[in-house]
Amino acid sequence: MGVIPLFTGLLFASVRLDLTPTKLDGNPLHLLSPSRNLTLSLVGGKAQTADSIPVASLEEGETLSLTIRCVTPSTLQIATSESATVIQSAALCSSAESLYVDEEALFGCVSNVYQGQVLLMERLCSNVSPTETSTSRNHDETTESEENESSSRQPVYVAEPLEVNEGGSVPLQWRNVYVFTDHDARLNVSNKDVSFSLLDGPLHGSLLLHDRPTATFTYADLLVRSLVYRHDGS
Ligand SMILES: *[C@@H]1O[C@H](CO)[C@@H](O)[C@H](O)[C@H]1NC(C)=O
Ligand SMILES: *[C@@H]1O[C@H](CO)[C@@H](O)[C@H](O)[C@H]1NC(C)=O
Ligand SMILES: *[C@@H]1O[C@H](CO)[C@@H](O)[C@H](O)[C@H]1NC(C)=O
Repeated sequence: MGVIPLFTGLLFASVRLDLTPTKLDGNPLHLLSPSRNLTLSLVGGKAQTADSIPVASLEEGETLSLTIRCVTPSTLQIATSESATVIQSAALCSSAESLYVDEEALFGCVSNVYQGQVLLMERLCSNVSPTETSTSRNHDETTESEENESSSRQPVYVAEPLEVNEGGSVPLQWRNVYVFTDHDARLNVSNKDVSFSLLDGPLHGSLLLHDRPTATFTYADLLVRSLVYRHDGS
């Protein structure tokens, strides 16, 4: 799962993320907008943008914390604790829509992706061997007995509450129902392949897919906001 939608413009809330590459290669991060996309590549021990503007020097296995924000309506700044790089882009400052993590090009992990105070994504690791992934799993999981591996093969949920006015309707977004399967390489499941079945329906309303009540939906339905929760006013 690579698309991380931003909830507001970069002028209003910065995006922060940690990048821990295990191999310095390729273009794992893309900041997407309809009129300009910015790529962050990792080559020759450096993180740099597609314009070949160096952002930071980098070593394999080291974690780089980046903050991306607009300091003026047309000046995008990418900062680390050591340095700051600026790129002129009114397009990205006014209309950046999402951060795309190219899982094929990512060797390592992107984690703690925040916009302002909002956690957009906890962790996405790709092309990392299971042992490397397990060292970064959280405490509860690593203390589980290795004999019973199935019990640790659980998806992690990053579900934010959905707010809806009484009697109103609101589309569910991926961050309301996020299955974070990528934390465990043994699952080897992409969120693209995830489908959902409703076990207990909502108490005060219904879930609609293309305006019809539904008990099943796919992750793709969430991404295009086709799944709507309608409150019944009670
Ligand atoms: C940026 O990437 C998105 C998603 O791949 C694409 O829809 C959009 O057209 C791209 N914009 C530019 C300027 O290439
Ligand atoms: C493994 O864990 C699951 C879920 O906690 C449990 O139902 C099952 O009995 C356990 N299996 C073994 C062999 O301990
Ligand atoms: C994960 O699944 C893909 C496609 O099903 C396969 O090509 C790949 O080898 C698998 N990776 C691992 C680590 O099992």
